[in-house]
Amino acid sequence: MSTILKLENIHKSFPGVRALYNMQIELEKGELHAVCGENGAGKSTLMKVITGVYKADKGDIYLNGEKITIKEPNDAYGKGIAIIFQETSLFKDLTVLENLFMGHEPTRKTLGFVNHIDYPAMIKKAKEIFAFLGIDIPLDAKVDSLGVASKQMVEIAKALTYGAKILILDEPTAALTNKEVRALFDTIARLKKDGISMLYISHRMEEIFEIADRVTVIRDGEFVKTANIGDVTEKQLIAWMVGREMDDLYPKVEVQIGKPILKVEHLSKRNVLSDISFEVKQGEIFGIAGLAGAGRTELAECICGLMKHEEGNVSFLDQPFNVKSYREAIDKGVVYVSEDRKKYGLIVPMTIKENMTLSVLYKISKMSFVNFKKEKGIIGDYMRKLGVKAPNEDFIVDNLSGGNQQKVLVAKALAAAPKILILDEPTRGVDVGAKAEIHRIISNLAKEGMSIIMISSDMPELLGMSDRLMVVKHGKKIGELERSDFSQEKVLEMAL
Ligand SMILES: Nc1ncnc2c1ncn2[C@@H]1O[C@H](COP(=O)(O)OP(=O)(O)OP(=O)(O)O)[C@@H](O)[C@H]1O
Ligand SMILES: [Mg+2]
Repeated sequence: MSTILKLENIHKSFPGVRALYNMQIELEKGELHAVCGENGAGKSTLMKVITGVYKADKGDIYLNGEKITIKEPNDAYGKGIAIIFQETSLFKDLTVLENLFMGHEPTRKTLGFVNHIDYPAMIKKAKEIFAFLGIDIPLDAKVDSLGVASKQMVEIAKALTYGAKILILDEPTAALTNKEVRALFDTIARLKKDGISMLYISHRMEEIFEIADRVTVIRDGEFVKTANIGDVTEKQLIAWMVGREMDDLYPKVEVQIGKPILKVEHLSKRNVLSDISFEVKQGEIFGIAGLAGAGRTELAECICGLMKHEEGNVSFLDQPFNVKSYREAIDKGVVYVSEDRKKYGLIVPMTIKENMTLSVLYKISKMSFVNFKKEKGIIGDYMRKLGVKAPNEDFIVDNLSGGNQQKVLVAKALAAAPKILILDEPTRGVDVGAKAEIHRIISNLAKEGMSIIMISSDMPELLGMSDRLMVVKHGKKIGELERSDFSQEKVLEMAL
């Protein structure tokens, strides 16, 4: 084994934030090296330093033993280092093929002097790379028409067209379904075999133990440890991340479940939802399982007025609940935490304080006039419990780390104390400690009589938290399971 990349003594600060302090990491050729740490620990910042998005204040980077400087993303690309971003950097109106070779198209001279893009060469190369990665995506498809998983694969393929030797994957599985994760891991295995080295960030412990060779833990921007994955336990790893031992990760509180409070009958919307009926009881955590695209989010959006359904009825506390807007839903006590925090929920160019007070929920809701000050205090309490890492309330939300943005969103929804809380992927990108805290809070709110609908692709979370579970597929309800009947196999069997 030989070291391909080495970082030493890396420092990086932002106004009011010390993001990296004397950080170090070493990457061997052909290894998959996981990087772990709590939300805001500095993982993404470190990757951005390696790829020239940020310039370190201090520190050295060595590639194959030689000291290098990376001033901008193009330097990194030129040296064979590529990052696969969560929100892809692809041009969505261009085809897959055009994206792969954007800016470095192979050319060929005709009649000895005119330079032409060499399409046959491009197609040949693209096909080779796709075959190597084990993926099958039409080269003439518009990127816009692809799902998240395919876009990610195109990004990886694009990196290879540049001859990348080091790939950086920052939470690549956060928005993937189980099946897509398997496909990605298969591709990763092929890359490793070919000697490509990877830095891999994830909050999912089971993944790290499955695919990593080594792991480096970072806490508050500082290096804690590097270890072989075989030499460390999950408990140890978490202890290194949080600086103390953690106990039960999925606390399920026994709750006295009451009468049905929300009834959905025969809900339909063309091409999206077809004849869905279910009930949610008071104090119940009602899980919804299914693959991406099964219609779970659309179902939630129809219930809370963000989308219109064509047929069917919703009733709430025995009254028709046909809200025309989300505002009306909030006023009646139904709050939705969207899986897309930037679409509904957070206004990222604004400060935390503005998001606590001015943002959608409060600006539009009558509830806010009643108890505005008190609620802001409660949001603050929840943010502290979840450990939101920010210098102060005047910090711009966009500058928070991904997981910390999610915590602010969840804190706001919890503090609204709705009668029904609909959570769509509530802990995506959230670190293990804060995730357990969110689960604890949700359980306690259910105990106090709140009803919760939880949509999640995180199977341990869904099985651990739900009292009852509905499985949907292609917009249809496949069935319901009682907690005593839960198993991962059953749910997958129904969802696939
Ligand atoms: N552009 C920026 N301006 C100001 N502060 C920033 C900026 N980018 C990151 N930070 C801060 O640097 C710290 C480290 O953030 P980073 O995104 O690296 O965390 P992370 O480990 O990737 O967390 P997560 O698991 O939530 O993604 C955080 O406190 C964050 O708020
Ligand atoms: Mg991050």
